[in-house]
Amino acid sequence: MGGCCCAPPIRAGRQPTDRHAAVWQRRLETRLEAYSNDIADVLITEQQIRDKTAELAKQVGADYRERCPGDGRDSDLLLVGVLKGAVMFMTDLARALPLPVQLEFMAVSSYGSATSSSGVVRILKDLDRDIAGRHVLIVEDIIDSGLTLSWLLRNLQSRQPASLEVCALLRKPDAVKVDVPVRYVGFDIPNEFVVGYGLDYAERYRDLPYIGTLNPAVYV
Ligand code: PRP
Repeated sequence: MGGCCCAPPIRAGRQPTDRHAAVWQRRLETRLEAYSNDIADVLITEQQIRDKTAELAKQVGADYRERCPGDGRDSDLLLVGVLKGAVMFMTDLARALPLPVQLEFMAVSSYGSATSSSGVVRILKDLDRDIAGRHVLIVEDIIDSGLTLSWLLRNLQSRQPASLEVCALLRKPDAVKVDVPVRYVGFDIPNEFVVGYGLDYAERYRDLPYIGTLNPAVYV
């Protein structure tokens, strides 16, 4: 729970030692090895994701500095992540932001085929709190047809937040079926099936540190 009057000053965490870094590197390599035959190309590298997340966090920080000064629980910016794909981006974005934020998650299921949504959405997990009067930023991993987000914007807007914007890591301009206002976009990508960094195929590959295309042999 919270601190007390004799709590030590807050410091940034210790930097990992070389030994820790080497252990993490070995684990990553083992994990990547398991997927190595399945990935056709790396579309966006881990470093590119990191750089873009830092850039987006700087923009978001500048835009919300005055509205969300972090001087009280209800003035913190509220990030709403859409499970499960947005988890990696959401947690990295939160840690890159120069503002205190609170995290909320929703899980929705879109009726449609395995690879495309229909726009008819069912809530599997709703927010845990009221967002009326709050500054809300929806965090999405990818905007494909835009149907899920279009529904989500209407749904959350009806709960009367003080403001409602969207930050998406990826967008496929050639797949968009409905125009949705997206304030922050990381990368516009071609209309290809991508996995990694939260994005899955049959629940696999979310734990890749990069975004890549799948070898067609995996899904035919
Ligand atoms: C993905 C993604 C978006 C949605 C985008 O979620 O996270 O929420 O699809 O598609 P759209 O723009 O065509 O509506 P998915 O349903 O694959 O679930 P997941 O995040 O659990 O993988």
